[in-house]
Amino acid sequence: IDELLADGVSGKRVFVRADLNVPLADGTITDDGRIRAVLPTVKALAEAGAKVVVASHLGRPKGAPDPAFSLLPAAERLGELLGAPVAFAEDTVGPAAHDAVDGLQPGQVAVIENLRFNPGETSKDDTERGEFADRLAALADVYVGDGFGAVHRKHASVFDLPARLPHYAGYLIATEVGVLKKLTDDVKRPYAVVLGGAKVSDKLGVIDHLLEKADRILIGGGMAYTFLKAQGHEVGISLLQEDQIPAVKEYMKRAEERGVEFVLPVDVLVSPDFPDLKTKAPANPTTVAATAIPADQEGLDIGPETRKLYASKLADAATVFWNGPMGVFEHPDYAEGTKAVAQALVASDGFTVVGGGDSAAAVRTLGFDEKAFGHISTGGGASLEYLEGKTLPGLAALED
Ligand code: 3PG
Repeated sequence: IDELLADGVSGKRVFVRADLNVPLADGTITDDGRIRAVLPTVKALAEAGAKVVVASHLGRPKGAPDPAFSLLPAAERLGELLGAPVAFAEDTVGPAAHDAVDGLQPGQVAVIENLRFNPGETSKDDTERGEFADRLAALADVYVGDGFGAVHRKHASVFDLPARLPHYAGYLIATEVGVLKKLTDDVKRPYAVVLGGAKVSDKLGVIDHLLEKADRILIGGGMAYTFLKAQGHEVGISLLQEDQIPAVKEYMKRAEERGVEFVLPVDVLVSPDFPDLKTKAPANPTTVAATAIPADQEGLDIGPETRKLYASKLADAATVFWNGPMGVFEHPDYAEGTKAVAQALVASDGFTVVGGGDSAAAVRTLGFDEKAFGHISTGGGASLEYLEGKTLPGLAALED
């Protein structure tokens, strides 16, 4: 983008593909991190006199307009954060979008409606995606890719549109890729990785790749129970992916062969009931050894001994990557494990990275200061796929 700014963008229509896919509760944004993350790019372009057209997806609507997934709340928040009015187009490539873009003066910003209201955005058919990309291209002179959270998607606005316009990477993508490079090439050691979240199947690729890079892998969250089961322990009614047990066993064996320390919970908080996340009524969990989970109980957070153990394993790490909460952090009785990991990252002198999605939301909702971390990624799936060593369509399209 610096190259683009140096060449001059005054009066040019610049399409910024952002990731404004923010969490909403009853139409209210609960975490605006992704909107704030794209501000440097939008501001720089506006200050340079560009006519800025911001586009994004939100949620997973079914290829047709759906008010529940309107980008309007995100557009309004973008305007508040910019301190300037932002025009909003109620369609994506139709007359409203063209009117909004035609009405922009240099330095002004418009947001077009959710890209996924059009089936061409996510289509697997190259022609259909290409046709939608052609219509998007008619709105702009230049493309800036800055939706890091969506670069793993081969979607029209991410993959096909850059080929149709002069294209550049925005500041957010440049920062995110710079950080991820520090987690894959030229890593400072010891390198500790903390993985949590519900499903082990979402993390197998990243474990596979990081087994070659990391010194320690700490496991928490719902996925930990599949590891415990693979070690021969009963896990009661905890989350379990039986079909993943062979893969998990194989990774633990490879870790041992490679001298990578695999650390599993030693104690967990259990309850017969999943907590009520709406009322947050007291859940009164009990703490049990991870090897002795009663048959009628569900593990919902790591326990106090595990919190201490994980903090000690992170204390001397020079690089830490963390993705996925340690428990049901949305309920205060099960938030301590996730808090303890966040605290260990805050206390670390090493380079600490929080992967996007739930862990980034957890850090913010639990009240941690974002600046206390080396980097909080805006990409959940995108960061993980990068760390799996995959080619990301949205980055490939900008690199050509
Ligand atoms: C995300 O939330 O990870 C990105 O915005 C991508 O969203 P998607 O998984 O619906 O493609």
